[in-house]
Amino acid sequence: STEKKALYIIFGATGDLASRKLYPALYLLYTKGYLKDHFAVIGTARREWSDDYYQSVVKDAIDDIKESDKDAEDFSSHFRYQSHNVKNSEHYHTLKDLADSLDNKYNIEGNRIFYLSMSPAFFGTITTHLRNQNLVTENGFNRVIIEKPFGTDLKSSIKLNNEITDSFDEDQIYRIDHYLGKEMIQAILALRFSNRLIKESWDSESLSSIQITLSEDLGVEERGEYYDKSGALRDMVQNHVLQIVSLLTMDEPESFTTDNVRKEKLAVLESLKKPNVKEEFVRGQYKTSEDGKLKGYREEEKVSADSMTETFVAGKVIVDTDKWRGVPIYIRTGKRMKEKTSRIDVLWKKTDHQLFDEGDSFLTIHISPDEGFELQLNDKQIGPGMDICPVRLNSICSKEEIKSKPEAYEKLLLDVLNGDETHFAHWGEVAASWKYVDYIRDAWNENLDNIPFYSACSMGPDESDELLTKDDQRWLYNP
Ligand code: BG6
Repeated sequence: STEKKALYIIFGATGDLASRKLYPALYLLYTKGYLKDHFAVIGTARREWSDDYYQSVVKDAIDDIKESDKDAEDFSSHFRYQSHNVKNSEHYHTLKDLADSLDNKYNIEGNRIFYLSMSPAFFGTITTHLRNQNLVTENGFNRVIIEKPFGTDLKSSIKLNNEITDSFDEDQIYRIDHYLGKEMIQAILALRFSNRLIKESWDSESLSSIQITLSEDLGVEERGEYYDKSGALRDMVQNHVLQIVSLLTMDEPESFTTDNVRKEKLAVLESLKKPNVKEEFVRGQYKTSEDGKLKGYREEEKVSADSMTETFVAGKVIVDTDKWRGVPIYIRTGKRMKEKTSRIDVLWKKTDHQLFDEGDSFLTIHISPDEGFELQLNDKQIGPGMDICPVRLNSICSKEEIKSKPEAYEKLLLDVLNGDETHFAHWGEVAASWKYVDYIRDAWNENLDNIPFYSACSMGPDESDELLTKDDQRWLYNP
């Protein structure tokens, strides 16, 4: 049967992520029968909540997607709340008793999933207590899911990883990068390795550039406190952007197993060339929009009035191998840009001979809000002569198709139930990414007194365009 048995213990259960992502994802797994009679969830956090109140929060979180009131009721009856101070050993005793009794009640056979969705400062404390106070079972599987940020630089992430691996093995640790759960991110390897057309022309011989854009229209919202210490480089580049780079440039794995995929991704991340930061990386911070309607970053809540934090990054990433050295990978990501768009543009060089007057040919992978891909090729214009015109072939999902697809968190949580770590970030990948990002951060820190500004609702500072024009290139996506 498809049904899995698991007891979830969520640390940070009163948080925004739990309500926005986790409870809906668990509910969808429930409606599809992966979770059914043999599961339970213990939510923990500092606040004092009753089970009833917790269950009402869970019901609210699934209100838009529930199949019926009764279904929502049944689902939420599997949830319990335990007020918990992560530093208090006593509390783990109570937690263990509750876990054991729920395990009994629902006949879960010792399978446990510990979900750490709170400040990483507590990860080590929690995992140590889980191990020492016997919340880890002998009879079932024990898996830990960890939300970002995984440290703030290489040094802190090593410390964090050591703390966690004192109590859990690497193959029990699931580091979430929700981009890896997105359909079109997972489609990258399918497109690359199951089409000879694409596979054979995917290297520096054939490509002129790869462009990754993860733009957001929102500002920092209510996350100013976290974001002002983090900035776009740590928030987006260290994880999502570099993971995408690795999927776009990794060698074909011998087979589609976790180990083989990770091996190839790691090889890419370990061969990233140290950039000339001054020339090849651009940062920016949003200021008031031109129409005056959107405020600047420094006026946001919990952001310091003279903040030098970057809300935008663009850069040229080079994978320093014979196969890839010649292809610039331009990346950009930021808050308060013109549109919310995640996409990848892969541009081919013109043919060597150029019999005709060729235009651009490229592949665009739309990650969101559109999902699907477009391929632009050169065709003959109808009529006399041999004039060339562009044609676009596309496979773009309809709104209905997108809605019916499993969402990233649902897919990733199912992977955890199945013990499949392929779409999670391995420690080696995390470490290599931090190393790269630290290098850029350090260079910026040497010269903190000026940061280019861009108007809210624009595509970033002029320097971002100049980054490409000085290479005789341009951003293909230019709304
Ligand atoms: C998160 C960042 O990892 O990704 C957020 O912390 C960002 O700042 C988010 O908004 C973007 O994810 P998505 O799926 O909306 O593109």
